[in-house]
Amino acid sequence: MQTEHWEFLKNQSENVPLLITTALGTIAAGFAIHFARRTVTIQRGEPPLFPGALPLLGHVIRYGKDANKVYQEASEWSKDKAPVSLSLAGKRLYVILSQKDVLAVWRAKTLAFDSVCEWGMVSLFGMTAHGAKQMHDDPDGKGDMYVNQHRFWRDALGPGEDLNLITHRFLEYLEVNIEEFEKTLPKDNSGVEVDLFTWTRDRIGISATNAIAGPNLLKLDPKIMEKLTKWESEFFLLALGLPRWALKGPRENLEDMIKTWMKLGVSPDMLPPLIERTHLVIAREASDWDVAASNLSLWLGTQANANPSAFWVIYQILLLPADMRARVEAEIAPAFDPATNRLTDLNHLINNTPLLTSIYWEVLRLTAGSASVREVEEDTMIGGYRFCKGAMVMIPLRLQHLNEDVFGDDVDTFVPDRFLRNASELEGNKKNPGIKVLKPFGGGTSLCPGRHFAINEIFAYVATVLRKFDMELPPGQEVAGLRTSVPSVGTLPPDRDVRVRVRMRKYE
Ligand code: HEM
Ligand SMILES: *[C@@H]1O[C@H](CO)[C@@H](O)[C@H](O)[C@H]1NC(C)=O
Ligand SMILES: *[C@@H]1O[C@H](CO)[C@@H](O)[C@H](O)[C@H]1NC(C)=O
Repeated sequence: MQTEHWEFLKNQSENVPLLITTALGTIAAGFAIHFARRTVTIQRGEPPLFPGALPLLGHVIRYGKDANKVYQEASEWSKDKAPVSLSLAGKRLYVILSQKDVLAVWRAKTLAFDSVCEWGMVSLFGMTAHGAKQMHDDPDGKGDMYVNQHRFWRDALGPGEDLNLITHRFLEYLEVNIEEFEKTLPKDNSGVEVDLFTWTRDRIGISATNAIAGPNLLKLDPKIMEKLTKWESEFFLLALGLPRWALKGPRENLEDMIKTWMKLGVSPDMLPPLIERTHLVIAREASDWDVAASNLSLWLGTQANANPSAFWVIYQILLLPADMRARVEAEIAPAFDPATNRLTDLNHLINNTPLLTSIYWEVLRLTAGSASVREVEEDTMIGGYRFCKGAMVMIPLRLQHLNEDVFGDDVDTFVPDRFLRNASELEGNKKNPGIKVLKPFGGGTSLCPGRHFAINEIFAYVATVLRKFDMELPPGQEVAGLRTSVPSVGTLPPDRDVRVRVRMRKYE
């Protein structure tokens, strides 16, 4: 599949540099290719150039085939995990490898995120270039929208009224969603077999969509969840910024979704901060199309990582040995009304379920595939090296999660109770560094503001389906792993379909 895409690009693209990235950093790579400063030689003080750069192309082919692997190799090659320079068809990219440098990059004011956002609005979310520029205007004294957005979302989705509202709405929609599914089950309780990835998306994703956009969105286009999945899988093509004709399918899919959002128009059921945000876009005289693209981008952001993360959490629980699975079920039980099996105590789920919580963070450790990206606005010193103006900085977050020095010799294994283990009782080179070292939500100005809601929705979904249903993996089905060879938006998808038989659960 990967080779096919590769061939496709090689034959079709004209003046577009060839590049396919794997999961890590698709956005960044696309951006770098289009905007990063052209440099051929390493300047004085810049991080050392990773060996093997070809004339003109630099590392672009290796990087294009498997960016993940290039990061791994760079990490092994670099002394003391100092930053490394890559050359992508003459464009400079610095890869950050040590935790200390990650934090320094997130702190540095001269390493900016806004230009990456502006580019993404156009390439990934379908805004017109003119519309994306208009977001810089300041007709109402509320500032440049790229600059103020981080604080805006931090306030809107941080602990408080709006977070409570969206969570409350989500829980109501989830309950209805699950009830509707129950009605489709056969009366003899033989259950149905489902594809766990899609099934999860249609429970948690639809409930979150209704909570955020109001229920009309799915009424206008009942197929929009499928379009979401299609967008996720074609995301990297959009990121490459191929000529329009080469992007026909992905663009049509994207434009279909924008049109649905245009039809939705003003909806009082939308989440208040989303409405407020839209008024800012409208005040900047954006066209209806661009307002809809902006609305769409916010919705996609709420879906892209949360749904696959929820899939991984429930799947890993289904794979647990029986005694551990029983521990999770005992932990969540007090959150439910025993008579009706309704979820009545979300606080209990979030605060009093040590094993479920450890599993959640262990899932994010291994499956969060995003890269944090910055553009160098002024020459900046990081880790003793000079980062030159115009270059791109890339932090592959997952690399930090696979560091044996931090996580010990079982770093590559899924360990459900990793974050509960008593460090002083562990044998060999096993560790428990705590969840603070994990960075699945990025950091600095662009730290994910949705992380509080993500925990609420994922815990609620997982606990509810565990409580309500008997979920059984068919015997003989191979265990799915992470698909790292194909680009993803963020959270890595499974490398094969996962089938599950779902039945109502009977309690004595
Ligand atoms: C497990 C689920 C999630 C993961 C792993 C995740 C991860 C991320 C990451 C890595 C970033 C970029 C950070 C950076 O560049 O440094 C981000 C940004 C963002 N996320 Fe999430 N996210 C999740 C769920 C959500 C949810 C549920 C929402 C909304 C309700 C959301 C809203 C956003 C927004 C608005 C941004 C842009 C922030 C900004 O530019 O200031 N995310 N997320
Ligand atoms: C986007 O959402 C806002 C908030 O509900 C709404 O007022 C606006 O009409 C929407 N715009 C488009 C073009 O869909
Ligand atoms: C961890 O193990 C040590 C040694 O057995 C013990 O003294 C300590 O109380 C344990 N800590 C916790 C938090 O259980």
